[in-house]
Amino acid sequence: MVYGFIGLGNMASAILRGMAASGNFADNTLCGFNRSEGKTLALWHEIGLVPCESAAAVAQMADVVVLAVKPQMLPDVLPLVTPEMTQDKLLVTIAAGKPTTYYEAQLPEGVGVVRVMPNINARVGAAASGVCGGRFATEEQLQIVREMFSAVGEVFDVPEHLFAAFMALAGASGAFVHVYIDALASAGVKAGLPRPLAEQLAAQATLGAAKLTRESDEHPIALCDQVCSPGGTTIEGVHMLKKLGFETAVQQAVEAIIEKDKKLGE
Ligand SMILES: NC(=O)c1ccc[n+]([C@@H]2O[C@H](COP(=O)([O-])OP(=O)(O)OC[C@H]3O[C@@H](n4cnc5c(N)ncnc54)[C@H](OP(=O)(O)O)[C@@H]3O)[C@@H](O)[C@H]2O)c1
Repeated sequence: MVYGFIGLGNMASAILRGMAASGNFADNTLCGFNRSEGKTLALWHEIGLVPCESAAAVAQMADVVVLAVKPQMLPDVLPLVTPEMTQDKLLVTIAAGKPTTYYEAQLPEGVGVVRVMPNINARVGAAASGVCGGRFATEEQLQIVREMFSAVGEVFDVPEHLFAAFMALAGASGAFVHVYIDALASAGVKAGLPRPLAEQLAAQATLGAAKLTRESDEHPIALCDQVCSPGGTTIEGVHMLKKLGFETAVQQAVEAIIEKDKKLGE
């Protein structure tokens, strides 16, 4: 099987590196094309990606064609790809905002489309990727895509109408966590910790708490209660967070993302 990527930026290179490192695609060919040549050459050197000379050449060569350009580039790129897309090929798109019907309207009738929402945690093999098939995508094609994205983390089947919510929780929220870690580290620096140590502690505490939530059957609030001794120190901090509107801020931030995604998809 030949997997071809159009656009070899942050996401595509993370996915390709993950696929190559997994060893599960050793008998397959990974090929790709990027507007600027440097990224293609870097992946050629690093993982043996076969460079293609155009987006159309990727679509000619590949069985699975992955669109990994920014959504605003799709009107330029899709018309180059569609003439090459026969029914034996699969189109995979990771572009945010555009529904499967957008692609189906431009592709020849019957070509399978699978939409995926990965995230940048793919760089460390810890993405949560949402997958849904369009009108013509078969279960076999969906399975091909699940296997691809399993190389960079966990994969979830998500109905398309929930893609924006999935993206907000599984992907965009990572940015919230970085803001949180920085704020936590800054508070540590204010309390006298050296910044590198404060950053390390803030990140490790976040990682540990997330791991505990994933691996425990208990509700997150039950886990919170376990570290809040009556009259103790931690409950003071938790109360202050609640008083300052921490939960409302997080919930409204998620709503803002979903709202913006809706507008971009219009
Ligand atoms: N980043 C994320 O966290 C994330 C998460 C989920 C989904 N996505 C989706 O993934 C897609 C890619 O995002 P990204 O963050 O990887 O962006 P990116 O780093 O900017 O990568 C996009 C790549 O596309 C290339 N490109 C632009 N026009 C092209 C064309 N006509 N032909 C071939 N290559 C072209 C760019 O080349 P140059 O080197 O010339 O700029 C760039 O390397 C987007 O649709 C985004 O919505 C991203």
